Amino acid sequence: MSHHDIDLSLMTPVFEEYGAQKGALIPILQKAQGIYGYLPPQVLKLIADRLRIPLSKVYGVATFYSQFYLERRGRHVLQMCDGTACHVKGTPSLIDAVRREFHVEPGGTTEDGELTVEVVYCLGSCALAPVAVLDGQVMGRVRKDRFIRTIKKRIAAS
Ligand code: FES
Repeated sequence: MSHHDIDLSLMTPVFEEYGAQKGALIPILQKAQGIYGYLPPQVLKLIADRLRIPLSKVYGVATFYSQFYLERRGRHVLQMCDGTACHVKGTPSLIDAVRREFHVEPGGTTEDGELTVEVVYCLGSCALAPVAVLDGQVMGRVRKDRFIRTIKKRIAAS
């Protein structure tokens, strides 16, 4: 199954669990994201229909909480800090290197669905600048060549 196929029937047990309780919107969104990895538009529409609430309300909640993703995310997620300290220590050139190497813009996901790249602003570890986080693992004092190698290795390993 490709990344673009959305099997809506996977939501059936979720609705069985919660019925049509409007108050269950957040847990239902959490379950949906657990199933699909993000919240596809078709799924948001289905949830709105089932709970009989306006689609705009579902979008409102899904966009309000940062735990929810409306875009497909890659199997690996790379966050690059471009806060002041990291910026000064070279994050822009790291972002360029990632863009060239993996053909992905910040905020985007590679065509093959392997890597999502996000830019964040200060992870609170400025002493380690420049800082990046790959799949939840913090990397400090990032140097370009090793960084690119680490990402490639991670992708190859999965
Ligand atoms: S600016 Fe990057 S960790 Fe603070």
